[in-house]
Amino acid sequence: MMLIVSMCVALVLASAEPPVAPAKAKPARAPIDLMWMVAPLNEGIPPEPQPANTAALRAKGVALFTKHCAACHGKRGDGNGPAAATLSVKPTDFTKAIFKVRSTPSGTLPIDTDLFGTISRGLHGTEMFPWVNFSAHERWALVQRVKSFSVRFKQEEPCVPLAVPPPPPSESDTLRSKGKVLYERLRCGACHGATGGADGPAVQLYKDPTGARPVYIRDFKKGQFLRGSEMQDVFITLRTGLDGTPMGPYDVLAAPDLWALSSYVRSLIQQRPLRETPPPSP
Ligand code: HEC
Ligand code: HEC
Repeated sequence: MMLIVSMCVALVLASAEPPVAPAKAKPARAPIDLMWMVAPLNEGIPPEPQPANTAALRAKGVALFTKHCAACHGKRGDGNGPAAATLSVKPTDFTKAIFKVRSTPSGTLPIDTDLFGTISRGLHGTEMFPWVNFSAHERWALVQRVKSFSVRFKQEEPCVPLAVPPPPPSESDTLRSKGKVLYERLRCGACHGATGGADGPAVQLYKDPTGARPVYIRDFKKGQFLRGSEMQDVFITLRTGLDGTPMGPYDVLAAPDLWALSSYVRSLIQQRPLRETPPPSP
């Protein structure tokens, strides 16, 4: 583990960001829950190998990004597109290169397949919808465009993804009870609430954000997980943390503990049926 971490340049994520002006009243917006219910499911696994990073691919990425992504993320990738103020969650500022969804340790950059996955799957519960109508080649071009906004991608070595061992064969009551004990002992409920309703005491702390990025604590009952709500999704979220948010990594926990926590978190979901990812087509 030490070896893997030392291969990557871990940045200490400063929480002291410049204060922002108080948010203006938001215009009405379409209910995201509804929009996600009709959104197509996608696994985000590249169906073909990554193409070489040629000038043609980069040019394609620039054109696609300007046309489809800049409205929210801004032409310069700074998260200040014209539509940004109408969204429930602030679009990512790519110039900072701090990403929530990674397979790599906290404080490091995502690898290209992480970005490909995010663009393909979207981030559930936000206006970042899955971009499934783009070909894999177009999504790879967008990956290059997203990376081009920060020099960190040129300066730092790509990390080795953290391992996800096979999940336990079934989610038993024993596993969930073990997860509940850990959830209480590790005080997950301080933020997420005793039953996962995003109503823990720390919520008050984050109510009036002074940092540049507001905090959104997830309501587990709604079953909308940025990355997905499968066992593996929750496992890797706990292992990597969501950088740029108060959700830190729980990478010191052993895999059986992380599986137990994942199973317990899933048991708190009330909005059924769970949108499971379908098996890959043959
Ligand atoms: C309708 C607005 C909107 C559009 C259009 C949009 N995004 Fe996003 N995107 C978001 C929001 C909002 C977030 C932040 C979600 C969060 O932080 O929870 C985000 C986050 C991301 C992330 C970062 C996730 C992370 O790990 O932190 C990537 C990468 C991304 N978008 C790529 C794209 C690309 C590429 C396009 C164009 C094909 C695009 N987005 C179009 C709203 C949008
Ligand atoms: C200091 C507050 C805090 C603590 C403590 C905390 N979390 Fe979180 N957690 C967050 C925030 C904030 C988010 C949402 C980040 C976002 O969406 O931008 C989050 C998101 C999550 C997610 C959803 C990820 C997704 O894909 O959407 C899971 C699962 C999760 N936390 C589990 C846990 C567990 C289990 C614990 C205890 C081991 C824990 N959290 C402790 C603040 C916290």
